[in-house]
Parts: sequence; C-alpha cells; structure tokens
Amino acid sequence: MAEPAWDSWLATRATVRLRRGLQRNDTSATGLFDLSSNDYLGLSAHHLVRRAAADAALRHGAGASASRVATGTLSVHRELEAGLCQYTQRQAALVFSSGYTANLGVLAAMGGPGSLFILDAHAHASLIDGARLSGATLATAMHNDLADFTRLLEANRSSKHPKARVMLVVESIYSVFGDAAPLAALATLCTQFGALLLVDEAHSLAATSQGSAVLAAGLADQRQVLSTATLSKALGSQGGAVLLGGQGAPELRDHLVNTARTFIFDTALSPAAAAAALAALRLADPQRLGALAHSAGLIRDLLQGQLSLADRVEVGAGAVISVKMPTADSAARTAAALAGKGIAVACFRPPSVPDGISRIRLTAHAHHRRPELSAAIAKVARTIIEEDS
Ligand SMILES: Cc1ncc(COP(=O)(O)O)c(C=O)c1O
Repeated sequence: MAEPAWDSWLATRATVRLRRGLQRNDTSATGLFDLSSNDYLGLSAHHLVRRAAADAALRHGAGASASRVATGTLSVHRELEAGLCQYTQRQAALVFSSGYTANLGVLAAMGGPGSLFILDAHAHASLIDGARLSGATLATAMHNDLADFTRLLEANRSSKHPKARVMLVVESIYSVFGDAAPLAALATLCTQFGALLLVDEAHSLAATSQGSAVLAAGLADQRQVLSTATLSKALGSQGGAVLLGGQGAPELRDHLVNTARTFIFDTALSPAAAAAALAALRLADPQRLGALAHSAGLIRDLLQGQLSLADRVEVGAGAVISVKMPTADSAARTAAALAGKGIAVACFRPPSVPDGISRIRLTAHAHHRRPELSAAIAKVARTIIEEDS
C-alpha cells in the first residue's frame, strides 16, 4: 500500500479522536496523591517486595530467557504458584507474563468448536479478546443479570445444535464501575447447566475480604470455577495467573501448559516480578485488606455525602469508586484539573466504558491516612462540581 494512504488514515483517526474528546496520553503522574493506580496495598514500593525483586534478579538474571515450556521455568515460578494456591486456597496455579495473557491463554485454550462462552456485557477487553481468539460461539449477557445468563443457557440447551461445553465469563469486581459479580449465584447456575465459570479476579486478589472473591464466595474448591488474576495490581508487581480448584485441577493445568498459546509462545515471567509478587502475597494480610476496605468506604461516604454527586457515584464493592461525568471532555478536563492540584485520578472514556458514559475513577489505597485522604476527596468533589458547571 502506498504511504499517503497510511498518512491520511492516521490523520483522520487523530482528528476523530480529538473531536470526540477521546485523546489519550501516556503522561507520568509521579509525585501526585495517588487515587488512580491499582497498587491498592502500596506494596510496589514496600522494601521487602523491592528486595525480593532485586535478590531474584541477582540470583536468576534480569529475564527468564525462554518460554516456560523450553528452559524458562525457574524455581521462583514454582514457589509463586505454590504461594498463590496457598493464599487463594485453590489447588493448582499457572503463572503467565501478565493478566492480559492469562485471560487470552485460558480462554483460547478452552474454546474451539462445540463450545459456547457467555460473557458479561462489562467484561474486560482481555476477556473479550481471548473469547474472540478462542473460536467458541460467543454470547453476551446483560451486566450482572442472572436472568439473562439463565435465558442464554436455556436458549443453548433448547437449540437444535446445543453447544456441549459452556463457560460463563465474568469479573469479580468490575474494573470500570467497581461493582461485584454475584459469584455464588452464578456458580449455582453453572452447576445446574453443567457449565464452567471463569472469574477474572484482577481487582479482588489481595484487594477484597479474604484476599479472593472466589474464596470469599465459598468457591475455592469448586472444580467448575476457574479464576484468573493479575500480579500487577494489589500485589504491586507484574504478571498474571490462572487458578484452579477441586478434582481435575492438575489435569486442567496440564491442558493449559500444552495448549495456552500465550503460555507456550511467550517468554516466562521475569524472576524479579515473580519474586516480588510472592513477597507481596506474604504482606497482603487481613490488616492491610482491612485498611484498604476502610479507605474505600471513606471515599464512597465522602462522595455520596455531596448532594450533587450522590446519584452519580456507582455502588461499588471493592477498591474501585467511579463517578459518572456528563461528557468525555468534562471527564478529561476534571482529571487534568485535579492533576494540576496534585491529585491523580483515572479518566475513563469510550471505548473503555461499557455503557458509553465517561467516568472519573478513583482507587482506594490501604496506606492513605484519613486526614490526607479526606482533604483529597473534598478537592475531587469540588473540582468535579466546578468542571460540570
Ligand atoms: C479486569 C482486568 N483483567 C485483566 C487485566 C490485565 O492485567 P495485566 O495488567 O496484568 O495485564 C486488567 C488490567 O488492566 C483488568 O482490569
């Protein structure tokens, strides 16, 4: 293709982005009061986590040098997998180089002809991409709507050519709205229909009660519940994992080792990241989880206490708190104004918002002290109201 075609295409895409208020930038937020990162427990900077990363790099090298199925598997990967199993009370774990590749890997490895994946409408991009790669027939259920999941399961069962292998795909805590999936009810539904449930625990591993939403829902030992997680949010490191429970977990892990393309054709997680995640797991104790829940509750209460914002604050369950904004532009303006006042918040705009409504997203952190946090939230509320008017 001639170059001018590419140039004019790029220019058109940029113009459309700007006109719609959807321009994104990879600017640094260093030094700002952090209401934006996913380092929920502040462990990324913890001296024991950094020390573990440094020691692992010195011991094993800066990189793993090969895929896990070649020569890339190191003792630290095995130790991390054992640590993840112990923490989440699951039976088998497989570590990937990111949460994104864990989702892509497991979905593609479980799909193919004869399978149906029913995704929640708010599922993360990595779940959608994995489902598309999988070759499974895809359906979308309305967000957190058990009746709609049931309708789709029944439609498959009564169709002329029902798919024999069905999997529901959800997040434990949704990354944009911050609300929780009804995991226990979804698992019961799966049992009724002989389906699997895949739960992305990106925002609940080491970030909600008991450190795992699957564990808290009493599903850790359930064979039909598969979970994925990222090591790059509450654990402050990098990487991802698939976690399995119940009878058959080792066989399923073996299937993934042999078929998950993002496991096989990807260099193994770096030793420093693996060791850091393992050290962080040991620090993600009930006291830190309690402090995180306390910070999240305080943010919600303070925002909902503002009359003009009350009905715009999403009813969240974890450390993610979202506030609806009238336009993509006003969301971007508010985030920029807050950065100017020393506060980092996330700005979510299409296509990152499942309902097309832009949002300011705040994340709670266990290490924020009450006075500083209250002062920052007061500024956030004032700025949102000012930018709206
Ligand atoms: C719900 C969800 N799943 C998966 C991921 C991907 O995780 P990672 O950043 O480790 O690739 C994210 C992170 O953005 C996420 O929010």
